[in-house]
Amino acid sequence: MVRFLFGFVAAVVIVLLTMLCCVRFGFVDPRADAEVGVFESKIAMPALDAAVERRAPNVANPIQPTDENLMTGMRTYQNICAGCHGDILHLHAAFGDAFHPRAPQFAEDAPDMPENQNFYIIQHGVRLSGMPAWKQALTDLQTWQLVTFLSDMDKLPPQVSAAWKAAASDGFGSAGANPSSDTTKTKMKEEKNMEMSAH
Ligand code: HEC
Repeated sequence: MVRFLFGFVAAVVIVLLTMLCCVRFGFVDPRADAEVGVFESKIAMPALDAAVERRAPNVANPIQPTDENLMTGMRTYQNICAGCHGDILHLHAAFGDAFHPRAPQFAEDAPDMPENQNFYIIQHGVRLSGMPAWKQALTDLQTWQLVTFLSDMDKLPPQVSAAWKAAASDGFGSAGANPSSDTTKTKMKEEKNMEMSAH
């Protein structure tokens, strides 16, 4: 019995060491554009879902899906999320495929996770993926407006859909009404001008 146990533990240690060596000595493909394999889809993704379910505080969405909240959520989404997650005119954002794991395309497949989990993911991002943590950039209210917009994305009131189409036709990051992004854009323009005059 003792010999069997010893053999079992030794086998487990050897397997773990072999796996560690494979990772450490470069046998893992580092490319973001490599095909998403079985490990990601069968193990990492369910693991992420389970971790978020376990950690996201069980809070209810404190705001209502009024036109005003949906409209503000839409603008924020169009400004900073659509480039990776798609929008009403660009159902599939090609840039979303530049990540490993790929960015889910919400206009193709509306997000169906509970709202407290979406709130948690938006605030904290997803480690080792392209999904940033937005807690520093967005207030709680802005984040709930985004969550509400995501929940209602496939059943938006006509006036919000119309405004979204108009914003999306101007391209990503151009929905306006977000002073911080306007400043960013002016700043980027200034930097571009500086760069050009330096040449
Ligand atoms: C730079 C690209 C990028 C941007 C910008 C971005 N995301 Fe993501 N997002 C990702 C990627 C990649 C994933 C997939 C992460 C994973 O599966 O591990 C993701 C995952 C998510 C998820 C989890 C979806 C699920 O079904 O598991 C939510 C919700 C989300 N993003 C919302 C947002 C919102 C809202 C914004 C804007 C505030 C945003 N994202 C901005 C790349 C991005």
